Amino acid sequence: MMTIFDKFQPLAEARRELEQGASNFFNVVMEEIISGTEAVVNGRRMILAGSNNYLGLSFDSDCIEAACQAARREGTGTTGSRMANGTFSGHVALEKELAEYFGRQRAIVFSTGYIANLAILSTVVGPGEVILLDADCHASIYDGCRLGGADVIRFRHNDVEDLEKRLRRLKKRDTNVLVVVEGLYSMLGDRAPLADIVALKQKYDAYLMVDEAHSLGVLGENGRGLAEEADVEDGVDFVVGTFSKSLGAIGGFCVSNHPELDLVRYASRPYVFTASSSPSIIASTRQALKILSARPELRRQIWENADLLYQHLQGLNLNVGPEASPIAAVRFENKAEAFALWSGLLERGVYVNLVLPPATPDGNSLLRSSVSAAHTQEQMAHICKSFTEAIG
Ligand SMILES: Cc1ncc(COP(=O)(O)O)c(C=O)c1O
Repeated sequence: MMTIFDKFQPLAEARRELEQGASNFFNVVMEEIISGTEAVVNGRRMILAGSNNYLGLSFDSDCIEAACQAARREGTGTTGSRMANGTFSGHVALEKELAEYFGRQRAIVFSTGYIANLAILSTVVGPGEVILLDADCHASIYDGCRLGGADVIRFRHNDVEDLEKRLRRLKKRDTNVLVVVEGLYSMLGDRAPLADIVALKQKYDAYLMVDEAHSLGVLGENGRGLAEEADVEDGVDFVVGTFSKSLGAIGGFCVSNHPELDLVRYASRPYVFTASSSPSIIASTRQALKILSARPELRRQIWENADLLYQHLQGLNLNVGPEASPIAAVRFENKAEAFALWSGLLERGVYVNLVLPPATPDGNSLLRSSVSAAHTQEQMAHICKSFTEAIG
């Protein structure tokens, strides 16, 4: 008789193949976390050059202190949904602070960024309505689209002409259309052409949601993301983001000026049917949010590091993403070459992420590095030198 796992045979084979290419691929354990940029991995001290800890705030002493105090005061978890016993005063305060930071009327906090996308996309658009999403959007955006039952149409990554063609066709349907893009795309680190997209959404009377997961804290004078940098915040209806990158914690949010945003709280299963974030997470996130606008030097530092690594990789003639960004991706058509460089970097004490199809754009294999404002000059020099040596 077939077992319940037989359907995973293709996956099991792919895993065996991967293990041959890089024996330690599935066994990476962060055994000791030394700082936001260093850990002991499989017994070796490594520079972390693949995390999303863009500003290094997971180790900020004020954030840690805020988290410890909240845990002592309010316990380790809320043990309930926001709709039941899980709304503490910290959740409400964080929502107010997020709304103020973004200059919006409304904010909702979710337990993760993944859940924020599921909640918003499965609720604000539904059957008979249309979501037009950039093909390179994150899995959480795809999953949110699937959960809600709207018609989902992809447009080519960052291709404004393709988007306009689809918007023009949809005009005949006379229905609500939500365009969904990211600020900085998570795999290649490139920006959306947001000013053009806002112009189109206005021309065709559509709604626009921007997932600023990777751009919060990184882009814009105050760190509010690509919409701030491109000076089009008024043209964005919903900003979604996560606390798990620049803010160094875990959680997600949506901010909007729409007066009815709060209805999502009642209509959205991913909001209602999961426990709310623990008090320590909320407290460290509130502290980290203050730092985003108070310490612009962190943004200057991350861009210095980003430019340095991008130029170095370009100088090595590697196939990097289209623009310099804290996410520095190297693309390979051949998986084995990607494995070899990944393993070579590990041997030299540098940990980056190896990302394989189908999680990558264009079916390429990717080495996805990311830099942090917390990487020191010495660490950056070691990362660059390791790339040079590992490509041989
Ligand atoms: C663009 C984007 N949106 C959402 C998420 C999900 O965020 P979280 O890790 O908070 O669930 C990610 C995570 O990598 C992401 O890259």
